[in-house]
Amino acid sequence: MNRRANLFDCLARMTGDSTDGWDAFLSTFYQHFVASDAMVAEKFASTDMQRQIRMLQVSLQAMLSVGITGKTPVGFQEIAEIHNHANHNISASLYNLWLQSFLTCVAQFDPEVSPELLQEWEDVLRVGIEQMLAHYQPD
Ligand code: HEM
Repeated sequence: MNRRANLFDCLARMTGDSTDGWDAFLSTFYQHFVASDAMVAEKFASTDMQRQIRMLQVSLQAMLSVGITGKTPVGFQEIAEIHNHANHNISASLYNLWLQSFLTCVAQFDPEVSPELLQEWEDVLRVGIEQMLAHYQPD
């Protein structure tokens, strides 16, 4: 089975493709992420987390698109710029915490999780993270 099908099947198992399922998965992800470091908690101190969950649900599709096809979808550059040095100032170490929190959540939510599946997630998401970091410093 190809990588795209594996990851989309995994998402379907974890969320049931329902709004409630996505809410449960992504709110658990943010609980892990915010607890991972005081700096993360500080960044989201005044954030509407319900809105943030919706934004991540959509931008995760963009991350998958970048990681699987290598192409950046419309709007991806804007998301990257929101995180750059001049804006929210999100550096590489924070993206590592983001990735680890995501993988922890996959292990928690997917009954069919395996080391190979976690590696696929990591490989695909790292491509998008590299793209985000490419916009970290102004040109
Ligand atoms: C590749 C992983 C990530 C993706 C796909 C992502 C996606 C997004 C999106 C779509 C938004 C909303 C932008 C808008 O309001 O238009 C956002 C906002 C934000 N992100 Fe990320 N993000 C990622 C990683 C991170 C990391 C590692 C941090 C570190 C703490 C972070 C901190 C923030 C903050 C502080 C905001 C603004 C929240 C607010 O409106 O108060 N993000 N992110």
